[in-house]
Amino acid sequence: MKIDIENITKTYSDARKPDHVVLQDVSFAIGSGDFVIILGESGCGKTTLLNLLAGLELPTKGRIRVDGDIITGIHPSRSMLFQQPALLPWLTVRDNVAYGCNIRKDTDNLDYRVNQFLEIMGLGGFATARPGQLSLGMAQRVCLARALVGHPEVLLLDEPFASLDTFTQAHIQEELVNLWLSENFTAVFVTHDIDEAIYLGNKIILLAGDPANITDIFEVKESYPRDRNHLGFKQIRNNILERFKNAYLAKRTLL
Ligand SMILES: Nc1ncnc2c1ncn2[C@@H]1O[C@H](COP(=O)(O)OP(=O)(O)OP(=O)(O)O)[C@@H](O)[C@H]1O
Ligand SMILES: [Mg+2]
Repeated sequence: MKIDIENITKTYSDARKPDHVVLQDVSFAIGSGDFVIILGESGCGKTTLLNLLAGLELPTKGRIRVDGDIITGIHPSRSMLFQQPALLPWLTVRDNVAYGCNIRKDTDNLDYRVNQFLEIMGLGGFATARPGQLSLGMAQRVCLARALVGHPEVLLLDEPFASLDTFTQAHIQEELVNLWLSENFTAVFVTHDIDEAIYLGNKIILLAGDPANITDIFEVKESYPRDRNHLGFKQIRNNILERFKNAYLAKRTLL
């Protein structure tokens, strides 16, 4: 599944800021099986871009094509994982994971698939628990299982691990890489954490400016699983920091 983002502009209008151009003329391509990172400072338009890819919102100008077809709304082939775990508190873990598939009547082998993903996520013993009985990290793993149980072709992730502690974060990042390597989906992951970006992605897209646009695209060729202390890792980190510094200085000069 190839995604082409073609000259996207997104403008919001509200009483505070009429005609607020958030993204302007953004273009890039996502190849099938890529792990693309959208990296940028808070408020630059990362979630806006992800919402456009999900089809939750439509661009003001330009278009996004999936295998040539223009995105006009949401589709089960593109699944989204949000920053905060959003589970239905009255349903069990198992029923939460199965929820979207049940609604779409995608029920072939559903019990098996749900159990399989709960096992992968290390939650096999929690199938009958309620969300209120889970830690934040466990709840986010349930959301990841729910996002993957329908075998989406594209997984969109909006800073899903930002509120987790360092240890849980490292563990779940590793699990996500393993899942991506075994399940062959395309991932688009939003973050403002440079190390997380380099640990996960094979392509890092830097978003900066107001309105935002792509300032750089980094290809990360290090093999998986990645070592945060590896020289190549540190080199990419330095390059990205340098580019952010330049973008920041350019913004200050314009003010
Ligand atoms: N529905 C909306 N109506 C009006 N303005 C909006 C709307 N959604 C986002 N914006 C504005 O668009 C800009 C980009 O927001 P967005 O949420 O995409 O940023 P972000 O990069 O995801 O930030 P963060 O890292 O803090 O999550 C912000 O100035 C925000 O106020
Ligand atoms: Mg955001």
